[in-house]
Amino acid sequence: MPLSFKHLTSTKQLTRADTDAILVKAAEIEGVTAKGGSSDLLAGKILATLFYEASTRTRLSFEAAMLRLGGQVITADGFQFSSLYKGESVEDTMRMVGQYADIIAMRHPEQGSADRAAAVSPVPFINAGDGPGQHPTQALLDLFTIRKERGTIDGLKIAMVGDLRYGRTVHSLSFLLGLYTNLSFTFVAPKELTMPEKVTSFLLEKKLPFTQTDKLEAALSCDVLYMTRIQEERFADHSEYERLKNVYTLTADLVKGTKVTVMHPLPRVGEITTDVDALPNAAYFRQARNGVPVRMALLALLLGF
Ligand code: NCD
Repeated sequence: MPLSFKHLTSTKQLTRADTDAILVKAAEIEGVTAKGGSSDLLAGKILATLFYEASTRTRLSFEAAMLRLGGQVITADGFQFSSLYKGESVEDTMRMVGQYADIIAMRHPEQGSADRAAAVSPVPFINAGDGPGQHPTQALLDLFTIRKERGTIDGLKIAMVGDLRYGRTVHSLSFLLGLYTNLSFTFVAPKELTMPEKVTSFLLEKKLPFTQTDKLEAALSCDVLYMTRIQEERFADHSEYERLKNVYTLTADLVKGTKVTVMHPLPRVGEITTDVDALPNAAYFRQARNGVPVRMALLALLLGF
């Protein structure tokens, strides 16, 4: 079944049917790639990756996804080496790159840049993160991971911890989880970094209950603990970042003996100690690996396969 959209800029666009189609296709693809198989589904197609903000996982997994489908990749990264630095608008960049590639993934520091890009892009466009706005492909791989790790989405208790104000991953994931039922949320953040109203009002509208606290312990009795990095690059006042950067540290002592599935979009910078890695609860590296089949599924579906 085709997706209901041509460009993906926000998880708010996704219907339950879209999400199911992407997850089903990702699982199918994973069945092939896990056995070392490859595909030539997108042979002759080109993905352009434009990354004007730091990224390792997202860019490499988009590129790996395209290559594993038999397609090819052209890339531009680093703001200072791009035409944007010369003053070119995002819109003009899109119009131009859309002549070279069949599909575009872009990360940009400005919230809203993805919508501006999608409005003019001649080819399917995917938001790979727009400042503190949205990161829809991360949310899709998070959802895929939750279902694999816990066997279901409906009815789970989900904790989100850390920088809920600037963290785009928790915004996107909350909106996506709004498609499911009987979920409840525990938001753990210091008062300076609480979940924005755009998310809390959405959950109220969906009648999905949430509690807000600054106590990390509240997350340990949930089914999923989604840890996030304090987003240094979003702070106008660096001393505020310094004050808040170590606010939560998840250690093996805290996690041991609980049934919580620990997730993190990565990179971590100390908020999960490395002694957690060996626990069966630690799902974050499996989560990162899931980025490839989920992005393969999205690329294929957006290109009509
Ligand atoms: C996240 C992001 O870029 O928003 N990283 C990622 O894409 N996996 C999370 C982060 O940078 O903290």
